[in-house]
Order: sequence, then structure tokens, then C-alpha cells
Amino acid sequence: KTLAGTFFHAPVLGGIEVLEDALVEIDTAGRITTVTRSSDPHHDDARNAASRAGTLVTLPAGSYVIPGFVDLHIHAPQYPQLGKALHVPLEIWLRHTFPLEARYADAAFAQKVYKTLVADLLASGTTTALYFATIHQEATRLLVDTCLEQGQRALVGKVAMDNPQECPDFYRDASTEAGLQGTRALLDYVRAHPANEGGLVHPVVTPRFVPSCTDAMLEGLGVIAKETGCHVQTHCSESDWEHGYVLARHGVTDAECLDRFGLLTRRSILAHANLITASDMARIAARGAGIAHCPLSNAYFSNAVFPLRAALAKGVRVGLGTDISGGPSASMLDACRWAVAASRMLESGVDPALPPETRGRPSSRIDIRDAFHLATAAGADALDLPVGRFAPGYHFDAVRVDTVAPNGTIRLFDELDAPEDVLAKIVYTASRANLAEVWVAGRRVAGAG
Ligand code: GUN
Ligand code: FE
Repeated sequence: KTLAGTFFHAPVLGGIEVLEDALVEIDTAGRITTVTRSSDPHHDDARNAASRAGTLVTLPAGSYVIPGFVDLHIHAPQYPQLGKALHVPLEIWLRHTFPLEARYADAAFAQKVYKTLVADLLASGTTTALYFATIHQEATRLLVDTCLEQGQRALVGKVAMDNPQECPDFYRDASTEAGLQGTRALLDYVRAHPANEGGLVHPVVTPRFVPSCTDAMLEGLGVIAKETGCHVQTHCSESDWEHGYVLARHGVTDAECLDRFGLLTRRSILAHANLITASDMARIAARGAGIAHCPLSNAYFSNAVFPLRAALAKGVRVGLGTDISGGPSASMLDACRWAVAASRMLESGVDPALPPETRGRPSSRIDIRDAFHLATAAGADALDLPVGRFAPGYHFDAVRVDTVAPNGTIRLFDELDAPEDVLAKIVYTASRANLAEVWVAGRRVAGAG
């Protein structure tokens, strides 16, 4: 089919591209084959040809299409806890979280939560999610099945956590061997899944974080990552407690420790990374690993704001994450908003008792266009997935934003709002009612046409 309408995307940091009255042609596999701008001499011919073929879909007035969001860090089992237990630091919060995650030994409970979560995320415009599941094999398989059924692009990891010092008896891998075997079993399951021929879902090697894993576990997971070439995800230098724990146990930072175990690769995504050092940053950039910046969660659990601009300047691949339920919003729009707010606080400083010139860190702020880039194209790039842009060869994962939806929250004033303002208003002020239609690989997965 060929969609006719106005498209916004942000292929590179620092700017957006407006494809006004463009045509985006999508093949039966859900890949974009051509993008024709209104200024293109072939535009009218292409439009007429699609119209004659009966494949032209003209978007309603007031609608704009943006790439679907890539959530680089989300804990699927924590969804029932969204908005709860945010008054305590990370190490105490985990004591609330482990009993909840332990419940996923019950497959029926897992099924119920995961169906709700995936539907809600799709309706919120999250077309790709990098998920932590739990330690359980069956429940993790159910998350994979749910993503395939509902059509969400996803990367799913069975959480590995075997360290009896940091994990409770009721919630940890039965043994190091069992955790490694469970990881391998999930890889096999995803890769052989009959509904996954198109490669919508990928398996992920998932050490929860260094404290929760024995050295034997980290070593074994590093071997699996190397042998299979699959993605890796973990938490990195999130809070003072966690960062200090790794320094005390290994004598090095998280990034260096992960590197020693073969877990810092071009396929790795590190959640948070707030407290990384300059040499960590250079190491992460050199390995080509990505960072999931989770500004809302960081407001609660980290003891610092992630130095986003510094990381981008060093060439680190960064995207955004919600960190459900460390962050109490499932919406990547909120992640964009908080990324801007956090960067401004880092730049200006927050303690009014300090003299203004000593408060903040200069040149730290980003704007909403940068945040939109991070939430779409940059997140996709960090995963090496061909999504997040409107260009030939990319999967059509997209959201139709209806700026005139009666229950929506976007208010445009035509005489004042240039196209860039429209995008800024979409990212800052849209609510779920404005997200009229969501596609993954060309298939409608939420909303109505
Ligand atoms: N560190 C280890 N586990 C977790 C988790 O579930 N959430 C967050 N934010 N940090 C963690
Ligand atoms: Fe997390």
C-alpha cells in the first residue's frame, strides 16, 4: 500500500525532517520501498498509479505520522507495580520488586499481565521494546508469544540472577548452571518459534546486574553472547550503592567488569550508566555498546543525572527507556519530556544554596527534537534494527498522531504553528487519545484506520 500524508522523523541528532504531503510505499513484508516527497517530479504520477491500483491510503486531515518508539529498557513483570514503591532507594525498592517478580512462576498470572502490558505499550506507540522478563522459562516464553501474537517488535531476556548474597531464596536461579541453561533454552525457543519467521522477536542475554550474578554466571553468559552473537542487556552504574558494590567486589567499574566477562559488545545495551567515568565512556564507545537513558527512573533511584551530551559527544550510542516500574510511566513520550527536563537540570544545577556559576554543568541540555531522535532512530540504531526512520529498506513501524482527536490534548493554532512546532507539540503534549493508529512492519497493531 501507499500512504499519502505528512510524516515527521529525526534521522540524525539535532534536527527533524518534515515530509510534507509525501507518499510512503510499503511492500507486503512491511518494508518501505519508496518515499516520494511532494517536490519530487514523480509525485503526482506515483499518486495516480497507487490510486488506480486501489492501494492509496490518504491520511485524514490533522494527522501526522511519526516513527514508532523504541523503548530500550523495560521490565515487563513490573507492570503491576507501576506507580508504586517509588519513595525508597533502589536497594530497598528491589525488596518490593523481587516478591512481585517471583509470582511469575505462575504462568496464568504472567499471561494476564503480559497481554495487558503489550497492548498498552502498542497503544502508547512503543513499536519496539527491549524487555527484561523474570528468571522463569515458561513465563518468559509467554512474553515472547504475546509479542508475536500482538505484533510488537521485541527483544526478550530471561533474567539471570544466581548470587545468594544479593538475591533472596525465593527469587533466584536454582543454580548457575540452571540459569545458563535457561538462557540457552530461551534463545532456542525464540529462534525456532514458528510464528517468528520474520524475526520480529529476538532473544537477549540478560544478567540482571553485576551484584545479582556470581562470577561464574557472568562468565557463562559472556560465552553464550560470544557464541550466539545475540544481544546483551544489563544495568550499569545506576546508583551510588550499586556502583560502589561493583567497585568493592571487583575493584573496577561496572563497564570494565562487564568488558572482562565479554558482556560489553556492539550488541550490548546498558541501562542507566549515570555514574560512568570518562574512561568507561571511552570503553563503551570503543566497544560500540549502547546506553538506555531512563531519565524518569533516574529521578527516583540514581544519585546523578546521566551525562547525555558528554556521551553523545564521545560517539556513544544512546536511546531512551521507560524502565517500568522504576519509572512510573509506560509512555515513551514521557521519557522524551523527562530527558529534556533532566538535561536542563544538569546544565543549570539544582541546589539554590550554591552560587549560580558553580551549580550546573554547561552545555548539557538537549531539546525536544533531540529527545525525539533518541526515542526513535537512535534507539533503533543502538539495536542495529532497520526501524525508526522513513526511508527505503526500513520496516514501517509508525504511529499516526491525530492532532484533532476530540479527547486528545494537542491544541494547534494554524496561524502560529509551523511544522516544527507541530512536532514539538506532539511530543510534549500528546496523550494516548491522540495516537490514532499504530503499525509494526506495516501491520496495524493498535487503533483503527
Ligand atoms: N537494578 C537491578 N534490578 C533493577 C530493576 O529492576 N530496576 C532498576 N531500575 N534497577 C535495577
Ligand atoms: Fe531497570
